[in-house]
Amino acid sequence: MHTAAVINSSNITELIQRTLNYVDPRLVHHGSRVAHLVYRMMEVDGGFSAEEQQDIYFLALLHDIGAYKTEEINEMVSFEAHDIWEHSIYGYLFLSYFSPLSRYAEAILFHHVAANALGQLDPHIARISQFINLADRVDIFWVHKPDADAVKQYLRKHMGDRFQCDVVELFFHTLQKYDLLEEWQHPQQIAQPPITLSAKGCSQYLDMLIFAIDFRSTHTVTHTIMTSQLSKGLAKALGLGEEQIHDIYYSALLHDLGKIGIPVEILEYPGKLSNQAWNIMQTHVQITEDILKGLVHPRIVQTAIRHHEKLDGSGYPNALKESDLCIEDQVVAIADMTSALLGSRSYKAAYSKEKTIEILTKQAEDGKISPQITEVLQCQFDEIVAEVKEKCLPVLTQYSGMRKEYDEKLAMFMNQKIYQPA
Ligand SMILES: [Fe+2]
Ligand SMILES: [Fe+2]
Ligand SMILES: [Fe+2]
Repeated sequence: MHTAAVINSSNITELIQRTLNYVDPRLVHHGSRVAHLVYRMMEVDGGFSAEEQQDIYFLALLHDIGAYKTEEINEMVSFEAHDIWEHSIYGYLFLSYFSPLSRYAEAILFHHVAANALGQLDPHIARISQFINLADRVDIFWVHKPDADAVKQYLRKHMGDRFQCDVVELFFHTLQKYDLLEEWQHPQQIAQPPITLSAKGCSQYLDMLIFAIDFRSTHTVTHTIMTSQLSKGLAKALGLGEEQIHDIYYSALLHDLGKIGIPVEILEYPGKLSNQAWNIMQTHVQITEDILKGLVHPRIVQTAIRHHEKLDGSGYPNALKESDLCIEDQVVAIADMTSALLGSRSYKAAYSKEKTIEILTKQAEDGKISPQITEVLQCQFDEIVAEVKEKCLPVLTQYSGMRKEYDEKLAMFMNQKIYQPA
């Protein structure tokens, strides 16, 4: 299946930017502004190929992808950040395992480390790390004090210890050439390198984004792949056409994108949510719509945001009825439920095949989900689920490898004094 038909190269950065803006209100536009500053520095430097500029632009955009813990975000946006290892290590591992940027991932591991502690690192990676470090600090500085001279003074003070001298010089040249502060104040219109990604490249970034969201809760690590594979399996079993299968697959892939905006404490809550928390949880659908609107085909957006609607009008967000919901919407809704039933959640264990079918059948009898689709699922359950599990296995293996490495690296970096955060 071709991703190019779903999201094109020029929209993928917008999709990533919009998604990142929901991580935390304190980080809105932070990634985009840092990427912008880094891009301007690369332009002025002149030594980066077009392909490198594109990759490093993405790297800078995603530099805080490891930040999902509220306490650490507090630190990152404070000017003298200290506890920076968790998001640096998680971001580094995530980008090494799950993105097309693995060769640059070390630059993220050290993006808060002082220049004079980077001696062991490959010089090119150290330099990229410094670009991001400097741009990151400039952004945080300007949030507190939007003044170009003051930032220059700050950088001059830290030339040679926190920041490599030539990187600071390069930033000063960039400031001469571009009115960076003026550009910084208009994050909606900032410049980016021309993005030319193949369909494969687009799909790698899309998958990466989805993993970033699913991995926020250990219970949902494979929820999206499971939902999209179940949707595809069901659509095929129903004998739907190729275009419908394509739409269903991508709607399922994007259906929970909005969970990026839901606090981890709610996603991981080990019990029944309070009314207030439940209301927040439900907003993930609206967030999904806000992120996707205008970037992917309206048909795909529509099905993606209808996965919690029920045939009897008892679903959310719009309490739609059977007559409003097309077969694509109904397939994705059932696949989503099935994935949640078969997996463990913070509030429940994983259910067996029998219990899953029992619950789905009851829902169908109560008029909430389609009895026809439920029956097809029941008849072909083993085949469909076997294929789904096969697709999930490599991700689970990689994920557990990543978690193990995370614990090891965290213990290692927390216990040493060589790398002081810059
Ligand atoms: Fe950071
Ligand atoms: Fe940052
Ligand atoms: Fe959902």
